Amino acid sequence: MALTEQMILEKLNEIHAPGSQMSLVESGAVRQLEVEGTSVTIVLAVDAPQPSTAGEVKTAVEEALAAMDEVETAAVTVHPLLTTVQPGPAATPEPPPTWADKIPDVRNVIAVASGKGGVGKSTVSANLALALAALGHKVGLLDADIYGPSQQIMMGTTEEPKGDPEGKIHPVEAPGGVKVMSFGFLVDPDQPVIWRGPMLQKALEQFVGDVLWGELDYLVVDLPPGTGDVALTLCQNVPMAGVVIVTTPQDVALVDARKSLHMFRKLEVPVLGIVENMSAYECPECGHVEHIFGAGGGRRTAEELETPLLGSIPLDAAIVIGGDTGKPVVAERPDSPAGRAFTELARKLSQGDSE
Ligand SMILES: Nc1ncnc2c1ncn2[C@@H]1O[C@H](COP(=O)(O)OP(=O)(O)O)[C@@H](O)[C@H]1O
Ligand SMILES: [Mg+2]
Repeated sequence: MALTEQMILEKLNEIHAPGSQMSLVESGAVRQLEVEGTSVTIVLAVDAPQPSTAGEVKTAVEEALAAMDEVETAAVTVHPLLTTVQPGPAATPEPPPTWADKIPDVRNVIAVASGKGGVGKSTVSANLALALAALGHKVGLLDADIYGPSQQIMMGTTEEPKGDPEGKIHPVEAPGGVKVMSFGFLVDPDQPVIWRGPMLQKALEQFVGDVLWGELDYLVVDLPPGTGDVALTLCQNVPMAGVVIVTTPQDVALVDARKSLHMFRKLEVPVLGIVENMSAYECPECGHVEHIFGAGGGRRTAEELETPLLGSIPLDAAIVIGGDTGKPVVAERPDSPAGRAFTELARKLSQGDSE
């Protein structure tokens, strides 16, 4: 008589599931069953009140199958279901460490986000990090913009991060004393990289947990624009002190800034406020102030969304040069209007923080 799955199931129906009145079949323990000629492959998952339980079930099944004339070979795998293991000090599985567990000495994670690209998120992140450091804080800067990392250039780093044999990464110490880690150190910035979900998650986890950030008052995270995977993954895994949203004053950017703000509120990440960048241009020759991207948009949006306007950064050619040459304006020209605006932003953000 040819061997069928039904015959095996009937046999398994005679064997009790551990700690239960039901059979292995009734209790749903059979996860896989394959019959090929006279060979049987079975995978079971059972409640395992004792460490020996899975082994006992395996033996019982193998013996039952050996007693069947139709079966010549049988491969039996039994997985213990850890989640239903009876409580007992030795049997309770350790929960895996969270990302936050890996950075116990990082006091405040501040994300810098924007709805749109090109509004100055990286410029604000770099200058904010340096301004916080100049105020005496220990600061790290994580460039998590996988699509267009730029901090390896903006912060004027001259080295690469170094790995150690334990798989930890030493961040680069940039001028101004800020520890920097950027996706730009890993990938060729000119080559587009497609990060798939699990790979991205893993890379981000490493950037947070495997980088030796050490003791930090602030870890500033330069997020990619928009409300994508990176922002979501970080917010769900790292407790944030809050997020700063950068926008330019023009309407199109403000619409996206609002979207971004709503997403963070949904994720229950505190929105610390809005930074209006490229807010006005003061002619260095005549002092005339021109609102190239419109006037007061940041303030109106902040009021409308009931969030503070943390600062307005003027449009200044020195910012472009500073960014391109790795000498951010707040370090190079701290007394310029832009330099002062960034210091003021750092002060506002660090005020009220008891550290
Ligand atoms: N306030 C500003 N004045 C003049 N140029 C600015 C200002 N803020 C940013 N920029 C320039 O605009 C460009 C985009 O800024 P960046 O910080 O890279 O934006 P994002 O990270 O949002 O894409 C850069 O060349 C930068 O130097
Ligand atoms: Mg950027």
